[in-house]
Amino acid sequence: MRNNELSAWVKEVADHTKPDAIRWCDGSMNEARSLEDRMLEDGTLVRLSEKLPASFLHRSHPTDVARAEHLTFICSEREEQCGPTNNWMSPEEAEGKVWPLFAGAMRGRTLYIVPYVMGPVGSPYSRVGVQITDSPYVVANLRLMTRMGDVAIRQLGRNGQFVKGLHSLGDLSPERRFICHFPQTKTIWSIGSGYGDNALLSKKCHALRIASVEGRDEGWLAEHMMVVGVTSPEGVKHYIAAAFPSACGKTNLAMLVPSFPGWKIETVGDDIAWMHVGDDGRLWAINPEAGFFGVAPRTSFRTNRNAMAALSRDVIFTNVAVRQDGMPWWEGLEDLPEGEVVTDWRGHPWSKASGDRAAHPNSRFTVSARQCPAVGPSFDDPRGVPISAIVFGGRRARIAPLVYEARDWTHGVYVGATLVSETTAAATGALGIPRNDPMAMLPFCGFNMGDYFAHWLRVGERLTHPPRIFHVNWFRRGDDGQLLWPGFGENIRVLKWIVERVDGTGDAHPTPIGLVPTYDAMDLRDLGIGPRRFDELVHVDTRTWQGETSWNEIFLDRFGKRLPEPLAREHRALVARLRKA
Ligand code: GDP
Ligand code: PGA
Ligand code: MN
Ligand code: MN
Repeated sequence: MRNNELSAWVKEVADHTKPDAIRWCDGSMNEARSLEDRMLEDGTLVRLSEKLPASFLHRSHPTDVARAEHLTFICSEREEQCGPTNNWMSPEEAEGKVWPLFAGAMRGRTLYIVPYVMGPVGSPYSRVGVQITDSPYVVANLRLMTRMGDVAIRQLGRNGQFVKGLHSLGDLSPERRFICHFPQTKTIWSIGSGYGDNALLSKKCHALRIASVEGRDEGWLAEHMMVVGVTSPEGVKHYIAAAFPSACGKTNLAMLVPSFPGWKIETVGDDIAWMHVGDDGRLWAINPEAGFFGVAPRTSFRTNRNAMAALSRDVIFTNVAVRQDGMPWWEGLEDLPEGEVVTDWRGHPWSKASGDRAAHPNSRFTVSARQCPAVGPSFDDPRGVPISAIVFGGRRARIAPLVYEARDWTHGVYVGATLVSETTAAATGALGIPRNDPMAMLPFCGFNMGDYFAHWLRVGERLTHPPRIFHVNWFRRGDDGQLLWPGFGENIRVLKWIVERVDGTGDAHPTPIGLVPTYDAMDLRDLGIGPRRFDELVHVDTRTWQGETSWNEIFLDRFGKRLPEPLAREHRALVARLRKA
């Protein structure tokens, strides 16, 4: 059974890109193994140690190692639909400038057709996409990241709708690299990059940029959020969704191993959540993905035991280093014996004396979620999970307290809208620069961010039991420059306070920006953090926050009349509270 629209589109693309061969991917094991053989032969993949069965290393082009935000475009009909925070290219310009780059681009290559389902198979919230690509590495990743192959063709049926993603490696030149999104036609064109989020179109391009527009039109939210279940020793379970910018701790929080006994963690998703208003007036989330594309550096048995367990077989590593015994290595994994020479992410010999990093700071692992011991049955539940709390967070060396709670939904939307975080290696560009990243969606919102804020407020109006909204910062530093908070497994203490707030038992005291935990309300047992250090962690400094609000005012002003009045009101109220403090 072939979908009519799909067949027509494949023909159009093949006529234009001129591949040597065309292959429909069925998602079978045979297909995966034959693709691997082909990639081992041509050097796209390197086989790793047999201690990690069916695991491979891929080295990307050295100029193609992260998301290319400056080359990412929303091609809406009108520029105002895309808004001041996105790059806009008119559909006509894209036709004239980007489509011709695909002409003959697949000569000498195979065109792969990769159908995939985003979300649990059979869920009313799931969507089908089809990516055409000339990169077997992309196919191999999609097999781990999505429910891929025949299962998607079945879900699609003869006349079903799907998102069309066209991808070619092109010549990998940054001058001819574009990632274009057409929300009207639910189409994506990506050329010139083979890396992660530029090339695995199911992920940011479909599940966030296109899906956020669908969500706006249909009344749901597509968010850059991990989702985790937290069960207390008394057996009370809550699901928490958290939005942090790339490389700010979502994957680690999703798989957290609590540092004290009694608490149980269940991983639902580590990067993207699609959230709907349920009949019960609660917000319900599914994870549209089926795998993890995680940051390798600093992943270790100490920081994320669940991720390490997942990485025991069937893994694609990208841009990590390799030890002489064929095991992957990255900074923070484990100490190398003195004098050991490894092969760095570029393929060159490297030792500790070399200075530079052995693994690229944005090196990644791709692995099926099913291999993570913390993934439970909720992962495939077609209804999703009910969300009790939403957490926004970022990387702030100063200013932002460890955790604070918003007063209500509207204030929480304001807290999300004014999220600021320091830039990381997940995108190309300077590192450590604070920037506004509303709801951690700055690079991923497919329409005008002002309208996106309004959409959040509208969804809130339909929730009779809205999640409470919080803000966290694991990265605050003291005057000595050291991190104040140990993070990772210790973050259970913050999650514990959050669920206690939801259940009405946790204590908090008000500050101008929101409610912070009292010293006694935060479970700090065995941590050696006294009242003075705790105060450093949660302190809200009026003067610096006045600076922060001025900065945010400039940002919010960029949306002009599209900034919802309730958020402007929240802003004025915050300024007034800070003045009085
Ligand atoms: P994601 O990209 O948002 O999924 O973030 P990850 O969970 O992959 O983490 C990105 C980087 O931040 C990794 O190098 C982690 O080791 C580090 N990280 C994650 N959680 C914490 C934390 O609680 N404290 C500290 N200090 N670093 C963290
Ligand atoms: P991350 O995912 O959020 O886990 O870093 C990749 C990205 O957002 O670029
Ligand atoms: Mn992400
Ligand atoms: Mn992640």
